Amino acid sequence: MGVWPELRTERLLLRGWSAEDRVAFAAINSDPRVMESLGNPLSREDSDAFADRIGAKFDQQGFGLWAVEVVDVAPFIGFVGLNVPAFDAPFMPAIEIGWRLDPAFWGCGYATEAARAVLEFGFDVVRLEEIVAFTAASNVRSRAVMERLGMTRDPRDDFEHPLVAAESPLRAHVLYRLLAPAKRTD
Ligand SMILES: CC(C)(COP(=O)(O)OP(=O)(O)OC[C@H]1O[C@@H](n2cnc3c(N)ncnc32)[C@H](O)[C@@H]1OP(=O)(O)O)[C@@H](O)C(=O)NCCC(=O)NCCS
Repeated sequence: MGVWPELRTERLLLRGWSAEDRVAFAAINSDPRVMESLGNPLSREDSDAFADRIGAKFDQQGFGLWAVEVVDVAPFIGFVGLNVPAFDAPFMPAIEIGWRLDPAFWGCGYATEAARAVLEFGFDVVRLEEIVAFTAASNVRSRAVMERLGMTRDPRDDFEHPLVAAESPLRAHVLYRLLAPAKRTD
């Protein structure tokens, strides 16, 4: 795995993944609370394959989904980072910001704190003009993170996720956008 730029915030270290993260990542991916808005819980094998893909994408792109550590508290609580969505939708091409944390660490502001550092990296280092975020319309917690970050939703951007089964209540998605600071007019 290549060299990951590390991002520091007041309480967090966003870093490259280590082999030790995989057990905790598999626990997160098998937790029904985490997967409530994402689909089926993942097996250990599928979780490890996901971690492998995260590493490969970072090497290709120079950005991706960072492993999140709470300094002096917890070595791994999940991921926050940037991703190129692998499906077609009216808002594509786009780069998304995403997050998935261990429920034991929800309600602490960690997702928002990590996401602020990732947005700064995306705008200042990757030089993105816009970063989007999307989630199942029912995913109140994730939408709250997007709103805390100052991302905005236009209902005309709402979409049906093409990789979610047509009959699933998770198919209806909302899209939030954030322009790079230099592009903002407000
Ligand atoms: C989405 C997800 C990352 C949100 O986590 P979260 O902990 O709710 O989000 P934040 O880190 O922004 O924390 C905000 C909460 O911490 C509280 N908080 C406590 N201490 C805080 C502090 N020092 N600073 C900021 N907020 C703090 C806030 O008041 C808020 O509480 P509330 O939920 O009661 O309103 C998490 O629910 C998750 O991993 N879900 C499963 C995966 C998922 O759905 N991912 C998105 C798919 S698109």
